[in-house]
This record gives sequence, structure tokens and C-alpha cells, in this order.
Amino acid sequence: MRLLLCHRDGQPAAPWLADLRAALPGAQVDDWRPGLPPVYEHAVAWNPPQQLFDEQPQLRAVFNLGAGVDRLLALCLPPALRVVRLEDAGMAVQMAEYVCHALIRFFRGFDGYARQQQARQWAPRPAPVRGDFPVGVMGLGALGARVAQAVRQFDFPVLGWSRTPRRVEGVRCFDGAAGLHEFLRGTRVLVCLLPLTGDTRGILRRDTLARLRPGGYVINVARGGHLVEADLRALLDEGHLAGAALDVASAEPLPADSPLWRHPGVTVTPHVSAQTGRREAVEEVARAVRALAAGAAPSGLVERGRGY
Ligand code: NAP
Ligand code: GLV
Repeated sequence: MRLLLCHRDGQPAAPWLADLRAALPGAQVDDWRPGLPPVYEHAVAWNPPQQLFDEQPQLRAVFNLGAGVDRLLALCLPPALRVVRLEDAGMAVQMAEYVCHALIRFFRGFDGYARQQQARQWAPRPAPVRGDFPVGVMGLGALGARVAQAVRQFDFPVLGWSRTPRRVEGVRCFDGAAGLHEFLRGTRVLVCLLPLTGDTRGILRRDTLARLRPGGYVINVARGGHLVEADLRALLDEGHLAGAALDVASAEPLPADSPLWRHPGVTVTPHVSAQTGRREAVEEVARAVRALAAGAAPSGLVERGRGY
């Protein structure tokens, strides 16, 4: 079996090649470069160029080295090509850390205490009431379900929203367009962990965010394309929203002149809320390659028509 690696986020390829070769003994694993002969069955890729698929039309499967496949599916891919994504690969626990950190920082007013320290001010404020901060998680998949459970551990009321009905212990679950407004009405801290698809692009906009409880907070750890940034800023400036933690942006890197950098209610991080673990990712890819070789559907197989 021949497999191509095309990892394009500036990381050195050598450790990936070594780990893939160790996990798939007997496979020929090569680093992609333009002009290779079209002899490969599989590609393992992150943000590959269109050229990879134009030059390798015989590929049977591409293994995406991330959870979200929006950029990959935006390319022109052969209709029969199977797309397999990572599920977890060390990311779920990082998402849980990131979201709990942002939530607790907001809930406990830690930014305010940091400002007080700068002013040498010793001024306790009353403890906030947890029940006034229901947390709504959009997307109850590999990452969202783990985040909802982690938030639950801190005794916050937790709501969840998915496309089809889901059950997550301790979480009030809603689904579909019919469940969205009630989900939003019950939520004060909104966490976005949806895939970016035709149905979810721009879903965080004025008419949805305005339905959150007053003093709401938005944590977007999914994709910048989910959020209409101008609507978020307007709702922050009007006081309906109290703040936002944004790990993703509509343009990445976030341009130097974006008002989000300096907005007092906004915390920006550079798309690091959950990073692919190499060891875990290689294990997942190797399992999926073996499943395909055995004629089985691998876990993480993307429904291309659905967009995730
Ligand atoms: P997943 O397992 O595919 O779960 C997606 C969830 O979203 C599912 O619960 C799904 O509903 C729901 N959903 C999809 N379309 C919907 C719609 N139209 N309406 C309502 N719910 C909808 O995905 P995941 O592994 O948890 O990852 C989620 C996303 O996180 C990725 O796509 C990626 O964009 C993002 N991400 C970001 C980072 C980062 O560092 N910022 C890292 C990793 C991932 P069903 O359960 O009914 O299918
Ligand atoms: C990262 O953003 C991913 O989708 O894995």
C-alpha cells in the first residue's frame, strides 16, 4: 500500500513520516511534493492544495489531520474519494480545558480582579450564582459532548443542541431548527462546536445572539465562519452581550486592524483551543486504513453531502 503525507501547517514532516511508517509496517509512506507519479492509494493531509488531488486522481481515501473538514471539502475532490476525519485525537480534553477556562474566567470575574490588582485594590465582590449562568453547547459530537460533560462537573446548568436528537447525561438536549430558539433562550454562555457547513455558516448572528439571556458570553472554538463578527461587536457595544472568547476568526491570522484585538470584552487566541496530537492522530489514521483494507467503514468517515 502506498500513502502520501501532505501536512501544511509549517510542522516538519519527518516525525509524521516516522510515526506513520511505524504504525503501518509494510506501507510505503512518502512526503508529498508536486510531480509525484499517480500511484498512491491514500493521502494523510492537513490543508492540502488542490494540486494534490489533481495529480493523484486514483486516491481512494484522504485522512484529514483535524476534526473539521470544511477546507478539504471546499476543494474539487473526486466523487468517489472517501474522506475520513479525526475524532478526538487528543483534542476533546483540550477543548474541555479551554472552554472551562473561558467560562470560569467570565463567571468568576477574574478579569476584573486582574484589573483590581493593577490598581492595588482589595475589593471582594459577591459570589455569582451558578444557576444564573446556563451554558449552551452547539454541537454534541466528539468535542461538544466532552465539553458539555466537563462543564457539568462544575455544576452549571447545561443545554445542548445538535442536528439530530442526542442524549448526553445531565444535559438538556435540543435539536434541529425547531429546538434552536428554546435552546438559545435558555442559554447565557454559548459555546460553538459545530462543523462549518452550508447550514451552520453565519449561525452566530444578530438574530440568534440577541436571543441569549442578557449579559451573555460567546465562546467560539469551531470556525470563524460561524460568527458574524460585526453583529457580535454591535451586541457587545449595546450591552446585550458581556463578552466573548474567540479562538477562531473569519480571516486567519486575524488582521492587525481588526477591532476584535482591542475590544475590552473580547479575548482572542490564535486557533489553538485544541491541537491535533501526533501520536493519537497516527493511531486513528492507522486504524482507519486497516478498516478500509478489511472492507469496513472506518470510524470518522465523513458524509460529504452533509458537510461533516
Ligand atoms: P462532530 O463529532 O462531527 O460533531 C458535530 C456536532 O454538530 C454533532 O452533534 C452534529 O449533530 C452537530 N451539527 C452539525 N450540523 C448541525 C446543524 N445544522 N444543526 C445543529 N447541529 C449540527 O464534530 P467534532 O469532532 O465535535 O468537531 C466540531 C468542530 O470543532 C469541527 O468541525 C471543527 O470545525 C471544530 N474544531 C476546532 C478546533 C480549534 O482548535 N478551534 C479544533 C478541533 C475542531 P448530530 O449529532 O445530529 O450529527
Ligand atoms: C482544527 O481546527 C480541527 O478542525 O481539527
